[in-house]
Amino acid sequence: MEARVTATQFARFSDLIRSATHAQHTEAEESAFMADLLGGRLGVEAYVRYTEQLWFVYRALEQTADRLAADPVTGPFIRPELLRVAELERDLEHLRGADWRTAASPLPATAAYCDRVAEVAAAWPAGYVAHHYTRYLGDLSGGQVIRGIAERTWGFQRKGDGVRFYVFEGIGNPAAFKREYRELLDALPVDEPERHRVVDECRYAFTLNSAVFADLALTFAG
Ligand code: HEM
Repeated sequence: MEARVTATQFARFSDLIRSATHAQHTEAEESAFMADLLGGRLGVEAYVRYTEQLWFVYRALEQTADRLAADPVTGPFIRPELLRVAELERDLEHLRGADWRTAASPLPATAAYCDRVAEVAAAWPAGYVAHHYTRYLGDLSGGQVIRGIAERTWGFQRKGDGVRFYVFEGIGNPAAFKREYRELLDALPVDEPERHRVVDECRYAFTLNSAVFADLALTFAG
């Protein structure tokens, strides 16, 4: 059983979160779907289906952005340069054509993920931050690896249509942005029990992502 990490072991909340989710991050990275996708063993259809799933997830993350921007807990995290729905829609139009919406449907794990995001967005601001962190900080990090491989594997134009989701035009210095983001996490106005709940929600966010990969793996099993 995994040892319980305690807040007191870490001077910074962002370090606690990173450490507490490290094993699940490795699991997600090494999941069969990701490994096959990035290893070039799946066709572009798998990439498109994955991009569709991301569209559902980011719609859930971003549909209440205006309200979350006004909330004292979530407000500092809601930055227009992070928003991804418009980029995903542009990618999907390129990948599937103008009527891409007719083919798009959430896999069961994606629907469950979106439900949880909607739930915390409506009722638990610090819980929403956990989901925000898990996706956007990942996109700014490993997302760049995925973009490079997608460009090479399926011939997308560098930083062009098909991979715009991974391109943050408004973020000139991702390393500095991530540093500031971690400072926002460190400054989250929450007490110790709430910190633990946020860490648990980050872990749950990773679990939900892995479940989407598992559903995708079933869809594209060779
Ligand atoms: C093949 C897939 C992936 C690769 C290659 C990858 C790679 C990376 C790398 C290299 C970093 C470190 C960046 C840094 O220290 O600045 C990172 C950080 C991160 N990744 Fe991933 N990742 C992948 C999948 C995922 C997934 C599926 C998620 C969750 C949905 C995720 C969430 C994160 C988060 C939240 C961070 C920031 C950790 C922190 O500094 O607090 N990653 N990833």
